[in-house]
Amino acid sequence: MSDSPKPTRRPEWTALKDHRAGALPHPDLRELFAADPGRAERYVVRVGDLRIDYSKSLVTDETLALLRELAAATDVFGLRDAMFRGERINITEDRAVLHTALRAPRNAVVEVDGENVVPKVHAVLDRMADFADRVRSGEWTGYTGKRIRNVVNIGIGGSDLGPAMAYEALRAFTDRSLTFRFVSNVDGADLHEAVRDLDPAETLFIVASKTFTTIETITNATSARSWLLDGLGGGEKGDDKAVAQHFVALSTNAEKVAGFGIDTANMFEFWDWVGGRYSYDSAIGLSLMIAIGPDRFREMLDGFRIVDEHFRNADAEANAPLILGLLGVWYGNFLGAQSHAVLPYSHYLSKFTAYLQQLDMESNGKSVDREGNPVEWQTGPVVWGTPGTNGQHAYYQLIHQGTKLIPADLIGFARPVAELSDELKAQHDLLMANLFAQGQALAFGKTSDEVRAEGVPEEQVPHRTFRGNHPTTTVLATELTPSVLGQLIALYEHKVFVQGAIWNIDSFDQWGVELGKVLAKRVEPALTEGADVPGLDPSTAALVAAYRELKEV
Ligand code: F6P
Repeated sequence: MSDSPKPTRRPEWTALKDHRAGALPHPDLRELFAADPGRAERYVVRVGDLRIDYSKSLVTDETLALLRELAAATDVFGLRDAMFRGERINITEDRAVLHTALRAPRNAVVEVDGENVVPKVHAVLDRMADFADRVRSGEWTGYTGKRIRNVVNIGIGGSDLGPAMAYEALRAFTDRSLTFRFVSNVDGADLHEAVRDLDPAETLFIVASKTFTTIETITNATSARSWLLDGLGGGEKGDDKAVAQHFVALSTNAEKVAGFGIDTANMFEFWDWVGGRYSYDSAIGLSLMIAIGPDRFREMLDGFRIVDEHFRNADAEANAPLILGLLGVWYGNFLGAQSHAVLPYSHYLSKFTAYLQQLDMESNGKSVDREGNPVEWQTGPVVWGTPGTNGQHAYYQLIHQGTKLIPADLIGFARPVAELSDELKAQHDLLMANLFAQGQALAFGKTSDEVRAEGVPEEQVPHRTFRGNHPTTTVLATELTPSVLGQLIALYEHKVFVQGAIWNIDSFDQWGVELGKVLAKRVEPALTEGADVPGLDPSTAALVAAYRELKEV
C-alpha cells in the first residue's frame, strides 16, 4: 500500500461535485433540450460505421468539459498510450495488455520486452485460416474419414462467451451446413444436450482455455473425449489418432495441452498479454473463424482496428470510448447509478450483454486501487440487459417507473440481415420504432398534465405518469456485419479501459474469482466421498449434510 492519486481528492472531482450541487442539481432532459435543442446534433460522435448519439444524457457542455478535465488529470490517455506500447500495465500480474496487437496490421510493430509480437499474431491467424479452410472444405476429416459437420467449443468465461456471442451475432454469415455448439457449464447437462444428437465421427471438439487448468473446461473435455471414443467404438476405441483428428486446443499452455493428450501440432497459441475477456479475436475465435470463414474473420479484426485507431488518435471531444466512459463515471460517481443496461434491438445480439458482463464486471469489479488501497469511490456498475423488444414486456416497467437511475445503451441497425424473407424484413421498422420510442419515453416521459389531458381519472393519474429523465445512449449502424461487430466490441473494451483508468484500478486482473474455485475443490470430496471437510462454516456444513441426505433418498 502507498499513497495513491485518489480521484476523489483531485480538484477536478470536486469541481464535478460542485457542478452537480450547483449548476446541475436536478438535470432534466426536457429542460436541457428546451434550453439547447442543438444538442441533438452536437452530442453525436461517429466512429467507423457507428453513429453514437448521447444527446439524451444528463449532461451539459459544462459537465462534459469538467469530465474531460477529470480524464486529463487522471491521465487516461497516458495509460492508453502505455497499453498500446506494450507496457506492463496489468500490475498485479506483471503483464502487458495487448489485445490491440491481435488486430494490428501485418506490417505493424508492437513490442513486448523488445520482441515484435505482430509476426507471431499473424502466423497464428494464418494457421487458423488454413485449418478453418480445411474443415470448411471437408479436407479435414474425422478419424473414420467422414467429413466434419459439427464443431463443439468447450471453454468458459472469455474462452466461451466471446466466440458464442460472436457466432450468434454473425449467424447470417456462417456456413449453415455446419453445426456449432458451445459448452461451458460443468453441469453435465450442458455437454449432454450439446452432443446428444451428434455423430462422433463427424464432430470436432475445440478445447479453449488460456491456462488449460480451468476445472470446468478440463472436466468437460475429458468427458467429451470419452463420448467420442465410446461413440467411435470397436477397434478405434482409445486410439490417440482418433483424439488427434477430433480435438484441437486453443491455449497459452503447450505443456498442459500435451498433458491432456492433444497433439501440440493441433494447438493454436496465444499469449499471456491477452486477457481471457479480451481474447475472442485471438486463437480463441477459431470456432467463429470456421463458422464465418477467414475473410469475414479478418473483416471483423479490421472493425476492431478502426475503433482502436480512433481511441488512440481522436481528440477528447470526439473520442467515443472516452465519452462513453466519462458518462458512466458521471452516472455512477456523481448521480448514484448502480447499474448500466445494454439493450440491443437485434435478435442476433442475444448474447452481447452477457459477453459485456464479463468484459466490464470482471475488469472493473474492484474495490482496491492500483496501489492496494481500499477505494472510496464507486467502481464498475452492474451490467445487464437482454434484446429489445423482449425486455419491454418484462423489466422495462422498473426502468420507466421504478425508483432507480438506470442509464441504458440502445443498439440498433438500419437494415435487417439480407437473408430474411421480405415479410420478415418488413418487421424491422417495427423493431426499430420500438427502440426510438423507448429512448423517447425514457427521456421525456409523460407528465401528469399530459395524462389528465387524455381524460384519465384523477386517482389513476399518478400511476400512469412517467417521470422520464432516464438517460440513454443510442448506437446506430447500417447493418450488423463482422466489421461492425468488431467495432462495437472495441468500443466497449476501450470504454471499460477509460473507467478503470479514472478509478485508478487494475482492470486486467481477476483475483475475485479465485476464492470460490479453491473452496469448490475443498468441498467436492465431501459431496462425492462423504469426506470430512475441516473448516467448513456451520451454514455450509449444514447445507452439505442436507445435500448428502437428499442425494441418498
Ligand atoms: O475464472 C475466471 C477466468 O479466469 C476468466 O478470466 C477466464 O476468461 C476464464 O476463467 C477461463 O479461463 P481459461 O481460458 O484459462 O480456461
